[in-house]
Amino acid sequence: MKILGIETSCDETAASVIEAGERGIKVLSNMVSSQVEIHKKYGGVIPEVAARQHILNILPVINKALEEAGLNRNTAPKELKAVAVANGPGLITSLIVGVESAKSLSFAWNLPLIPINHIEGHIYSNFIEHADQIRFPALVLTVSGGHTMLVLMKGHQNYQIIGDTRDDAAGEAFDKAAQILDLGYPGGPEVARRAGEFKKQGSSTDIVFPRPMLKSNDFNFSFSGLKTSLLYKVEKDKDWQSKVSAYSFSFQEAIIDVLTQKAIRAGKEFGIKTLMLSGGVSANSELVDHLRKEVKESLEGVEFFHPERAYTTDNAAMIAAAAYYRARAGKFQNPGDVSVHCNAEL
Ligand code: KG4
Ligand code: ZN
Repeated sequence: MKILGIETSCDETAASVIEAGERGIKVLSNMVSSQVEIHKKYGGVIPEVAARQHILNILPVINKALEEAGLNRNTAPKELKAVAVANGPGLITSLIVGVESAKSLSFAWNLPLIPINHIEGHIYSNFIEHADQIRFPALVLTVSGGHTMLVLMKGHQNYQIIGDTRDDAAGEAFDKAAQILDLGYPGGPEVARRAGEFKKQGSSTDIVFPRPMLKSNDFNFSFSGLKTSLLYKVEKDKDWQSKVSAYSFSFQEAIIDVLTQKAIRAGKEFGIKTLMLSGGVSANSELVDHLRKEVKESLEGVEFFHPERAYTTDNAAMIAAAAYYRARAGKFQNPGDVSVHCNAEL
C-alpha cells in the first residue's frame, strides 16, 4: 500500500510517499525543506517564524513528494491508501500547518487519515530498513532535541516508557553546549564535528563532566546539570576558546556514556532481543559506534539497529512508516476527529 506522510512538528517541512507491504518498506520520495538557515541567526527556532515558513513550504513540498513518487493530484487519490501526519508533540503552530493540510487532503481525496505521534515516528524510522530483522521485545533509545526516552516495545503499537528525561533532552543539551561554545545552531552536528577533530588528533584532556543520574535506580535521564557544568567551566577558563574541541569531546562523551549505560542496563533487565536507536541525535556516529560495541559486548544475542542518516532527524518517511503498521492493524481515524496535541505519552 502507498501512504503519504506529512511532518511539520518543528522547523522542517517534510512530505514522503512510501510503498509498504509484507516484503518491507520502500521509500518512493522523502522531501525535507529545512528552515535552519532562517533560524540560525536567532540561535534557535522561533515558533511564529517556523509556522509562517511551513505555510509557504507545505504545498510545494507535498507536490514534490508526490511527483518524485510518480504521482500527481489526479492519480494520488486512487493510488494512495491513506494520509499520515505527525500531530504532536511539537510546536503547536507548526504542527497545525501539517495537520490541517493532511486533513484537507484526506477530505478532498476521500482517504483515511492516520495521526502519528512524532516520537512513534522516530521509533519507526528503524523499520524502514530493518522491518524483517526487528524482533520483540525491543528497546528503543529515542533521542532528539525534544525528548530522550527508553521505550520498551513488546509488539507494534505496544509501548512502555521505562525512562524519560527529567529536564533537558540530549539534543537540547548538545544545542545549549554549542551556544556556550559559540558554535552556532543547530549545535549537535557542530559539537560532534569538533569532538571528532579532537579524537582524530589523538589528544587527551583533563576536562571531565559529570555523568548525571548514571547510578540512579531508574532509567531516567537529566542533562541540564551537564550544561551548567560546561558553563561554569568555560566561565572560569580564560583560555576556553583554544579548547573548544576538547570541551566538545568531553561533553559528548558524558552524554554518550549515560545514554549507553542506561540503555544496556535496561536491555538486560527486560530481556530484549533488539536494541534500536532513533531521533536526531542518532545522527551522531560516535554514539552509534559506542552503542553498537557495548551491545556486542554486554547483550548477548541482541541485535542493534539505527536509522539511515536520512531518517535520523525529522522526516516524513518515518511518519508514513509508523502509519503503515497502524493501517495494517486497521487503525484509521476520521479526519474530523484529528487535532494537534502536546502529549509525549505514546
Ligand atoms: O529529531 P530531531 O530532528 O528533532 C526533534 O524531534 O527534536 O532532532 C534534532 C536534534 C537537535 O537537538 C540536534 O542538535 C540533534 O538532534 N543532532 C545531533 C546530531 N545531529 C542532530 N546531536 C548530536 N550529534 C549529531 N550529529
Ligand atoms: Zn524529531
